[in-house]
Amino acid sequence: MVTGASSGIGKAVALRIAELGGTLVLLGRDRSRLAEVMLALNTGEQQQHEMVVLDLVSEVEMVVDVLPESLDIVVHSAGVNTKAPLKFITLDKLNSVFGINAFAPMLLMQQLIKKKLLNKGGSVVLVSSISANYATVSNGMYGSSKGAVDSYVRIAALELASQKIRVNAVSPGLLDSGMKSAYSLDESVEDFGAQVPLGRLGKPEEVAEAVVFLASDQAAWITGVNLVVDGGTTLR
Ligand SMILES: NC(=O)c1ccc[n+]([C@@H]2O[C@H](COP(=O)([O-])OP(=O)(O)OC[C@H]3O[C@@H](n4cnc5c(N)ncnc54)[C@H](OP(=O)(O)O)[C@@H]3O)[C@@H](O)[C@H]2O)c1
Repeated sequence: MVTGASSGIGKAVALRIAELGGTLVLLGRDRSRLAEVMLALNTGEQQQHEMVVLDLVSEVEMVVDVLPESLDIVVHSAGVNTKAPLKFITLDKLNSVFGINAFAPMLLMQQLIKKKLLNKGGSVVLVSSISANYATVSNGMYGSSKGAVDSYVRIAALELASQKIRVNAVSPGLLDSGMKSAYSLDESVEDFGAQVPLGRLGKPEEVAEAVVFLASDQAAWITGVNLVVDGGTTLR
């Protein structure tokens, strides 16, 4: 299953998994955007992909009623970035950012484990962000929501290890994709690519490769890690 599958990293992960022969459940709020991705999957007859239209904040407890009974991989890529300087933070904004970035993956995993929908030997990858540890002005709500994800990944990895379920995170730097617009309040962002040690912003497909690696059996002895994919941004 891939959440946030309608665009950006989630879509790139879904396309890559389908290419590798996996059968997918795509989850998002927007039916038409998800349907476009379903069409783009363009895979073999054995792959019976499904899509689930659901809001992971207000309807997360319904998710287990609409999912297949057996999942090997769960990728949570759904997220939002709402920027606000400290004095403009509100409880509503906090609930909205933490709701999808942090609470949703925690509650989603809880539901999957309680209902035993995630197979023994399964793998969870949560898409976090370098913003958890890399300070930028006005990014307090977003960065701290991803900090919660990072912490949760390590604890969930420990709790679920006895079931042979692995839990890892991928922390992208700034990508040349949808969420870039969330940074447009910051004038320096236009030049951000040039400041990245590898000289450019990242691509969703490059993050997807890291997600797919951690989700795969190639990473069978890796759990509780956070793989940074940022072109070297956090090196300085
Ligand atoms: N792009 C970057 O530069 C960057 C950098 C670091 C980390 N990240 C992280 O990477 C992840 C994906 O980012 P992206 O750039 O691919 O984002 P994106 O293109 O804006 O896509 C976000 C996805 O989240 C889904 N979503 C948002 N709220 C939801 C909700 N309440 N319930 C269900 N789905 C919801 C959206 O679904 P709908 O289509 O239904 O709205 C959309 O598919 C996020 O967690 C983000 O924090 C991104």
